[in-house]
Amino acid sequence: MTPADAQQRIAHLRAQVTHHDERYYRQAQPEISDFDYDRLKRELAELEEEFLLFASADSPTRRVGDDRVQGFVEVAHRQKMLSLDNTYNETELRAFHTRLVKLLETDDLRYTVEPKIDGLAVSLTYEEGKFVRAVTRGQGDRGDDVTANVRTIASLPRTLHGAAPRIVEIRGEIYLTQAEFERINAERAKEGEELYANPRNVAAGTIKLLDAAEVARRKLDIVLYGLGACEPAVVHSQTELQEKIRAWGLPVVERYWKVRGIDAAWAAIGELDQLRRTFAYGTDGAVVKLDDFDQQRNTGTTDKSPRWAIAYKYKPDSARTRLKSITIQVGKTGILSPVAELEPVFLSLSTISRATLHNEDEIRRKDIRVGDLVEIERAGEVIPAVLRSFPEERPAGATAFSLFDAVGGHCPVCGGKIARVEVDTESGLGAAWKCENYDCRAQRAGRLGFFCSRRALAIDGVGEIVAAKLVELDLVRDPPDLYDLPLETLATLNLGTGEEPRIFGEKNATKIVAARKVARGLPLEKWLYALSVPDVGETTARELGRRHRNLADLADSALLRAVLERAALEEEKDRESPNSKKNPPKDEAERSRRKMRRIAIDAELTTLEAGVLAGVPSEVGPSVAASALAFFAGEPGRRLLAKLQALGIDPAGTVMTAGAFTGKTFVLTGTLPTLKREEAEQKILAAGGKVSGSVSKKTSYVLAGAEAGSKLEKAQALGVPVIDETAFLQLLGPA
Ligand code: IVH
Repeated sequence: MTPADAQQRIAHLRAQVTHHDERYYRQAQPEISDFDYDRLKRELAELEEEFLLFASADSPTRRVGDDRVQGFVEVAHRQKMLSLDNTYNETELRAFHTRLVKLLETDDLRYTVEPKIDGLAVSLTYEEGKFVRAVTRGQGDRGDDVTANVRTIASLPRTLHGAAPRIVEIRGEIYLTQAEFERINAERAKEGEELYANPRNVAAGTIKLLDAAEVARRKLDIVLYGLGACEPAVVHSQTELQEKIRAWGLPVVERYWKVRGIDAAWAAIGELDQLRRTFAYGTDGAVVKLDDFDQQRNTGTTDKSPRWAIAYKYKPDSARTRLKSITIQVGKTGILSPVAELEPVFLSLSTISRATLHNEDEIRRKDIRVGDLVEIERAGEVIPAVLRSFPEERPAGATAFSLFDAVGGHCPVCGGKIARVEVDTESGLGAAWKCENYDCRAQRAGRLGFFCSRRALAIDGVGEIVAAKLVELDLVRDPPDLYDLPLETLATLNLGTGEEPRIFGEKNATKIVAARKVARGLPLEKWLYALSVPDVGETTARELGRRHRNLADLADSALLRAVLERAALEEEKDRESPNSKKNPPKDEAERSRRKMRRIAIDAELTTLEAGVLAGVPSEVGPSVAASALAFFAGEPGRRLLAKLQALGIDPAGTVMTAGAFTGKTFVLTGTLPTLKREEAEQKILAAGGKVSGSVSKKTSYVLAGAEAGSKLEKAQALGVPVIDETAFLQLLGPA
């Protein structure tokens, strides 16, 4: 790999990992399996190690996934909460042992082997034996105070049994049992609400609810296994700790192993694998820890994880079955995706008869043919996927798959034209077929479901099935048509068939009517996202929503036109460079003309950057700008705008106003996750604030990022509010 390729790949991986961190830790809605996530992260770490040149202090490989969200008070942990190194392979596990033998200069090492619980990490503080606080891991040093929600957990004693230390932080995992998970989902299904994907996501989502009564209705559970600060020290090994936790009356793991040497640890990992499906909590691996606390201290930690422990993760469950056929699904953007129709097979608690094949390139790469025996895998929440085929056992007549042939060159839903397009896939850019008919029924249903989804306008009650039905009956063409449907029509909607009717009902219909009313008042950024403007994802929608007054302003956006203009100027500058090798000037006169032009271009660029484009982030690039402008200039966009106007829906942008920081002084320290220092400074100045180099009592805020230094300490000592980038951006927008 060339350094340039590495740099590009590193940037791609960082963006991916950061995105999946956000989905997993903050939103509790992962899009990919842990296994795939770990693979991405591993590849990134390896590239960063090989190409030190591109290492960066704010890479997601160097930080603990941040779970903090708005609405909770942040509390510092007395002792940092770290994460764990993990591996899927025995050799690396043995290398972990070899490292410790070297570090500690003895090969007589005792370990505990414990279940790795698939929940969310929490730290409980007991003072004089009384439960006082529960805090999430947050970014390791400080997390969200979720005490009120943790108090709803029935199995958690308010007082430790027996003698207790003056103060102790006990760490563990909050989880939801499979049974409770299924109960909640059954209830949601009855109400026509979107189903949750897996117990871990529900547990993580529940602990971040602001309504403790709702939390109490979902019966969370907890199990404890670790120690933070403890004064005075009362235990000296992990086994002692496990016994102590039990003696205090707290829930502990069902089983752990105390072993000597790595061979015994490996054997215990195998035993745990046999048992783990019987536990109340999901167990996705084994955690191997040095037993002795003195030895733990002697090995120390890296900035992210201890050297004395490692997680061995089990491979996701898989099964073998026959691929009967491949059908094609059409998504909301019109992309045609292949779906495996399987001989039903039992896997991880349920029977599977369909699985994703990702895309045509993947099918070819894995040499999967209709009729093949295939291995399918289900990793936690995500849709089961076909992993591989067994060409050596291929039956005669197993046929290679061509998506184009399978659909006869037309969209299988609407019969419209399909075209080849480039798409982003996990392994980089790929090609796919796309239905070009914006009014295709599948696309319409997809867009309506998305419009109503929780991340968009949260019109609960309109899930996939309801959306498909509304479109099928031609009750909704574009999502805003939902507003035209009277309660009566919704209530009498038949989701079943003529013989077996399933009537949606008045209660569900009333909910939709209430939710769509609330959605009217949501800001531009939400609406923009909800309307499925091509290439406008959540982040882009947020940025655009903060920079435009309303949809009309956006449809004719000076900012987006400036983005395109900048790109055109940059391209011209490149192409017409006086020193261009590809396109050399033909004579001296042309060279000097180009030089003059270049000076003029630079001046134009400076004007743009300092003016309309000031502070516009890289997410809003030329392809987004082109897509958004084209969309609103075209038939679909104009139609949407007209419908919204007729409905009197005019979502307002949260335009940043100069003056939000008038009279405020900021001090910056550390590396922010997305903003460059200069960008943050520019935003402060633009909003009327001041930036200073040192912290004093007069400082209004310290804006702190990763690896913040003495300024942060000083702020804490003086009681100056410390904010992170998210809080900063929130302050910047009007409340
Ligand atoms: S010990 C210093 N033990 O897994 C870090 N962690 O992927 C010590 N986890 O952050 C953590 N079960 O939230 C430990 N038996 C167990 C665990 C466990 C689950 C979680 C924990 C940790 C994460 C790392």
